[in-house]
Amino acid sequence: MKNKIEKIKDLVKAKNAVILAHYYTRPEVQQVADFVGDSLALSVEAARTNADAIVFAGVYFMAETAKILSPEKTVLIPDPEAGCSLANSCPATQFAAFRAEHPDAVVVSYVNTTAEIKALTDVCCTSSNALEVIRSIPEDKEIIFAPDRNLGSWLQKQTGRENMILWEGACHVHEEFSLEGILELRKQHPEAPILAHPECKQPILMVADFVGSTAAIIARAGVNPATEFIVVTEPGILHEMKRLYPQKTFYPAPGIDSTCGCNDCQYMKMVTLEKIASALETGQSEVVVPEQTRKKAEKSIRGMLEIKS
Ligand code: 13P
Ligand code: SF4
Repeated sequence: MKNKIEKIKDLVKAKNAVILAHYYTRPEVQQVADFVGDSLALSVEAARTNADAIVFAGVYFMAETAKILSPEKTVLIPDPEAGCSLANSCPATQFAAFRAEHPDAVVVSYVNTTAEIKALTDVCCTSSNALEVIRSIPEDKEIIFAPDRNLGSWLQKQTGRENMILWEGACHVHEEFSLEGILELRKQHPEAPILAHPECKQPILMVADFVGSTAAIIARAGVNPATEFIVVTEPGILHEMKRLYPQKTFYPAPGIDSTCGCNDCQYMKMVTLEKIASALETGQSEVVVPEQTRKKAEKSIRGMLEIKS
């Protein structure tokens, strides 16, 4: 593994590239990255990097977001098949028809969407800034929120907004945590706060001690004096939590499939060191976004970046 990492570091230097990785990727991928973050931090970093090429160690919509923000840069995705079940749950044709049924609504989309959906959106959000984005919209305005129904109803509860119309999308990872399993784990570790991502279902969010994005969950584990935590999101996040707080213990929440015992995002785990090295060596696979779509999508992402979170 040491050789692979050295080879990647050399290639990064030679190509004046930067590797951006999400917290859900494999530990060794996070180790080789120049920057590891949640989807908001990664899009901010993609917009400001001076590198000629960005290797996006994450899923396709994240690499696409980087390309939308930095069209002059080469954006490479180590595995172009690394999609997202949530982004897939919101196809552009159906969404355009849905939007047409509510012509006066402001469209807010989570960044976990395709470039086409972002182009049909007024302002994007991530789980880090979703509350601020919703609160920035005048109270009397109807809002379409897409695609995650769990995040949408959590936002509705937090803001008290009744005029929100939710798209019925979901993420396979967060939909499949077991409430019973989490409560059982809590019985075994009664002092451990439950930290959950807002893409989880409502009954899980109701028992959680804290709900937040991946970056917020990591930060919370640092400021909370507890020494053990139950973490209800993709278990790749544990790598960063253990790195930052080696004296604390983190228990990944169980999924409903007891034979597997974990809730990996199959797409994030498709990114490997071999594929990163190959992307840097061959210049494949480059992310391309048609210019007309890119321009519209950029507006909704920049609108989000202007809202303080
Ligand atoms: P974050 O916005 O917390 O990075 O989450 C991204 C994601 O894909 C959640 O499933
Ligand atoms: Fe998409 Fe879910 Fe994977 Fe996040 S965890 S990238 S929402 S499939």
